[in-house]
Amino acid sequence: MRARFNKEAIDKLKENEKYIASKEILHKILKEKLKDGKKLFIEIGMGKGEFISNMSYNDRDNIYIGVELCIPVLALAIKKINRFEEEKNIKLDNLFLMSFDALNVGEMLGEFKVDKIYLNFSDPWPKKKHAKRRLTNEKFLNEYRKIMKDDATLEFKTDNRGLFEYSLVSMQNFGFKFIEVYLDLHKTDIPNVVTEYEEKFSRFGPIYKLVVK
Ligand SMILES: C[S@@+](CC[C@H](N)C(=O)[O-])C[C@H]1O[C@@H](n2cnc3c(N)ncnc32)[C@H](O)[C@@H]1O
Repeated sequence: MRARFNKEAIDKLKENEKYIASKEILHKILKEKLKDGKKLFIEIGMGKGEFISNMSYNDRDNIYIGVELCIPVLALAIKKINRFEEEKNIKLDNLFLMSFDALNVGEMLGEFKVDKIYLNFSDPWPKKKHAKRRLTNEKFLNEYRKIMKDDATLEFKTDNRGLFEYSLVSMQNFGFKFIEVYLDLHKTDIPNVVTEYEEKFSRFGPIYKLVVK
């Protein structure tokens, strides 16, 4: 049932020009688009796409890739982004969406390097036995490093104190340098594009943010 749903969802996705079905197609697009000093940004675990659609809308000169593991969630994101484009009467031709596991991001991007990685409200996986699934676990950081330009940064936001502390230690041990650390992002005046989860959960407590390189 699930497999059939996924197949139907993928067939539907393929009709949408923002959906990139393979690394070969991705590379062809990036070769064409990354000209004249355009920058490349990627959000991993984009969910329903609120953040990346606003980011790509506010910054039409640069290229954005949204990655989401779960196909049905990506299908919802595409619907939402289509509506967003209709409302604004624009085409976000700088935004591309893919479905793959963050563990394969090095393989998927190949020679293409990003200027920034966004990790927003990654699943906390609170049980110790699931720590390896956290998107700030060493094996994921290792993948992110492969796709980062020398001066690239990684921005991480969460409302989950446990995941925040885990990520601080994991990033420190990995050798990332901390550029910015916020213990209550919404009490600062730094510019912030909110995500779906942030909208829902920020009223229950602080939002933590890290910027590392
Ligand atoms: C808690 S949601 C947050 C969604 C969105 N970033 C937000 O802030 O509203 C985390 C998302 O990460 C996706 N995800 C989890 N593990 C992933 C992985 N290994 N690779 C890519 N996406 C993943 C999940 O499917 C889920 O949609």
